[in-house]
Amino acid sequence: MTKDADDPSGMRKGLVNYGDAGFSLFLRKAFIKGSGLTDHALDRPVIGITDTGSGYNPCHGNMPQLLEAVQRGIMLAGGLPVKFPTISIGESFAAPTSMYLRNLMSMDTEEMLRAQPMDAVVLIGGCDKTVPAQLMGAASAGLPAIQLITGSMLTGSHRGEVVGACTDCRRYWARFRAEDIDAQEIADVNDQLVPSVGTCSVMGTASTMACVAEALGMTVPGGATPPAVTADRMRVAELTGSTVVQMAKSRLGIERILTEKAFENAMRVLLAIGGSTNAIVHLTAIAGRMGFEVDLKALDRMGRETPVLVDLKPSGAHYMEHFHAAGGMTTLLRELQPLLHLDALTVTGRTLGEELERARPSFPQDVVRPRDNPIYPQGGIAVLQGNLAPGGAIIKQSAADPKLMEHEGRAVVFEGLEDLANRIDSDDLDVNADDVLVLKNIGPKGAPGMPEAGYIPLPRKLARQGVKDMVRISDGRMSGTAFGTIVLHVTPESAVGGPLALVRNGDRIRLSVTAREIALLVSEEELARRAQQQPVQVPRADRGYHKLFLETVMQADKGADFDFLAAPQVRGRVPRG
Ligand code: FES
Repeated sequence: MTKDADDPSGMRKGLVNYGDAGFSLFLRKAFIKGSGLTDHALDRPVIGITDTGSGYNPCHGNMPQLLEAVQRGIMLAGGLPVKFPTISIGESFAAPTSMYLRNLMSMDTEEMLRAQPMDAVVLIGGCDKTVPAQLMGAASAGLPAIQLITGSMLTGSHRGEVVGACTDCRRYWARFRAEDIDAQEIADVNDQLVPSVGTCSVMGTASTMACVAEALGMTVPGGATPPAVTADRMRVAELTGSTVVQMAKSRLGIERILTEKAFENAMRVLLAIGGSTNAIVHLTAIAGRMGFEVDLKALDRMGRETPVLVDLKPSGAHYMEHFHAAGGMTTLLRELQPLLHLDALTVTGRTLGEELERARPSFPQDVVRPRDNPIYPQGGIAVLQGNLAPGGAIIKQSAADPKLMEHEGRAVVFEGLEDLANRIDSDDLDVNADDVLVLKNIGPKGAPGMPEAGYIPLPRKLARQGVKDMVRISDGRMSGTAFGTIVLHVTPESAVGGPLALVRNGDRIRLSVTAREIALLVSEEELARRAQQQPVQVPRADRGYHKLFLETVMQADKGADFDFLAAPQVRGRVPRG
């Protein structure tokens, strides 16, 4: 019992309060021994493992195999693995949008890490919101943590063409809407788009967050890219297990990894992979948990000097399995070396630079371009400002139509998702290809949860005429797998009275990606008059999580986190300078 009293680690951590610490530990041990464990096992470092398997989350469909491999790695290194469930969020199964539940998952993760005795934790996530939620929760909980990614799905084949979720889902659906393919073909391709378990196979949000997690130093080296069903993925899982035991023994806390340098490396990678716009919101939320604000203007400056190097859909041509075969993040990080902080610490206890020196040698490949021959000369994401978005907006310029990036047009306004659904396919809709589609009320409070509806479908009558892209503007998000000239995250959102709420049909709007401007060409007097005429009704709810969400969710420039979850003190801004 002396050792128990002196060593607040393992099963001795965070005792349940019965008013008698000795009894609390006695009781805990009695119960866990009910599963057959010995005192010898209970003396090892205790490693929690989040089990986020769910029948509603096929992106985590390899969870049983991952858990087995992680547990093997932990036991080989002398730890005691203890898996436990948390919420799991499957992108296309969580209504009204998975983003609505991200903060809930982060709270679940944080509180379970705090409440249960563990010296370190393996976070297993993959589908879009799960990795951000886990990193947010772990950042707040503060104990040693390592991220294991479930891995991408394989590609499929449809009538001789390589296909994968979900860029090709959108492309085929757009062709079906335009009556370019028939019902039989759309049914056939539906069988091929997701040919295995795992996350989407393009550079969508899941793949982006996997790369971002590795760039943050939160995964083992090479942890981002192995597909879900491969032996490489299982080796990463085993290595994750053995690494986390060393982290527990050396007490390598998450605060030593999630530093300003780590966030700057992650942003650099986000820009260089042509990554999902969603990752900006998520990185902002994770940084906010560590006390860092994201400086969108500085991020834009970083973007101007960071070329897109990874040739993956939707910005490029390949899929995640090809990126992995090309050496994955090691190949990319080596190419980006002059732009990275190589002294940033990783979960291995070594720096990013040391890991790159230890990694396998480079070889010729065609997925990661050299910096002097990029896919796109600047970072994939540009930050816009102007009277339509005083708090900023973003555009994924690498996936936009170059002809539309300097554009002025007439606004065609939809007041919300219902209005959009009712009118977008009407032959009576007054719309031309040069117009600007504006969708209101899909921001953090508006929809709620900032759904991925910013990829406004092209009006059917224009799609039939062969129109492939238009300028589209909203306060919502879009899937990382989508493409087009689409302005997103307009801040402040229309539901809280942002200028977007004041746009009317026929107003002129100017987009200039070169000038980083999004402007509503209406006089200030007229906008003030409209604001008086139509006072805003901020959405409210009577009870439950919905009420908590609407009362505390912050805007996109604060990561759409809840105000009470961010770190109480701001320590700095990233990227610096
Ligand atoms: Fe889960 Fe795309 S639906 S990663």
